[in-house]
Amino acid sequence: MSDSLSGKSILLGVCGGIACYKAVELLRMLMKEGAEVSVVMSGNADKFVTPLTFQALSGRSVYHNTFEAGSSDSMDHIAFAKKADLLIVAPATANTIAKMANGLADSALSNLFLAYDGPVVIAPAMNSVMFEHPAVKANIALLKERGAKIVDPEEGELACGAVGTGRLADLDDILFSTRSVLTRNLDFTGLQVLVTAGPTREFIDPVRYISNPSSGKMGYAIAEGFRDRGAKVDLVSGPVSLKKPSGIEIFNCVTASEMNDWVQRRFPHCDILVMTAAVGDFAPKTIQKEKMKKGGRQSLNLELHATVDILKSVAQKRTTQYIAGFAAETENLIESAKEKLVAKDVDMIVANDISAPGIGFQSNVNQVSLVFKNGTVERLPRADKREIADTLIDRIRGELKA
Ligand code: CTP
Repeated sequence: MSDSLSGKSILLGVCGGIACYKAVELLRMLMKEGAEVSVVMSGNADKFVTPLTFQALSGRSVYHNTFEAGSSDSMDHIAFAKKADLLIVAPATANTIAKMANGLADSALSNLFLAYDGPVVIAPAMNSVMFEHPAVKANIALLKERGAKIVDPEEGELACGAVGTGRLADLDDILFSTRSVLTRNLDFTGLQVLVTAGPTREFIDPVRYISNPSSGKMGYAIAEGFRDRGAKVDLVSGPVSLKKPSGIEIFNCVTASEMNDWVQRRFPHCDILVMTAAVGDFAPKTIQKEKMKKGGRQSLNLELHATVDILKSVAQKRTTQYIAGFAAETENLIESAKEKLVAKDVDMIVANDISAPGIGFQSNVNQVSLVFKNGTVERLPRADKREIADTLIDRIRGELKA
């Protein structure tokens, strides 16, 4: 028996769905990990599993019908909600999800949800067509935006015989999310972070541009990493095809000049800047208004002018900001990164060898070295971009403390 949840008070919200019986096993698993669990049921849940089952296993009275005589004392549960470390709603039906998203309070569970202001894990389970319904999707998105951790349902055979996505997530996955939410480090709470990501496009004419293959994945992973640790995050993003992350303010741009505008505007409000974007260094001096014709030419000379060095420019205006830049290099990685650190007057350069096969620009994995102002260099192992982001954020935390 592990005791990873030892000393934790957990509210387990159970809704009336066919997966309700799985909540019994989830309760046992949470208790095995050392948690103190109090069960709260939605209006229909007791039609699937009796409150007595949950009561016998949890050793605590079950809060199940707010307005019926004989129901356990709701004040006990409000008191438990006040000290609870986490609320898990599993299985969460479309009905209860809608109530939680819209603030309805007509069942013990929806009532308690409003009286509770701590972290929430929601594991939806329903018919796959219901799960795909725009109303359900919008409610889930809203809860996610407000900080709930959603443990997505699985694909498989559903109780109704159909095959699709809607089956309650594996209980081990729910437990994993529970642990990760409870051990989450919110050490950037109160800090404002500005991250840039993706490439820029410098137009030659209305349909042609100069750009680079940056996918934006590294910058998005960094922005999400800061968000998950409690920071407020602004993300200035060049054109990428990534999903818009929730809980992050996005400022879209296309050209280096547009990116510069956003960064200049947001920089004075931030405590930390991480400039991950692969900004174009040169842009055509003139942009042709109409699509250029080949016109029988065998060659074409483009006149380019240098774009603003955004990083260098904001670093000159810094007050108290911590600033990290990236250096994408194909040769002399560390020396070039050190030179950039000095030339741009930043606190850290993340040196990224983009010539190595399988890492860098489009990939999900990366391998970087961190070059610090005091001359230290830390080579991080090759890892998933989110893992790299988390380590980078750890190091920035350490730098802020120093
Ligand atoms: N950068 C910037 N504005 C630019 C070019 C780069 O803010 N016009 C930032 C990048 O976001 C990165 C850092 O500067 O954080 C280094 O970018 P990189 O392309 O590696 O270096 P450059 O300064 O462009 O120098 P070079 O191309 O000569 O290596």
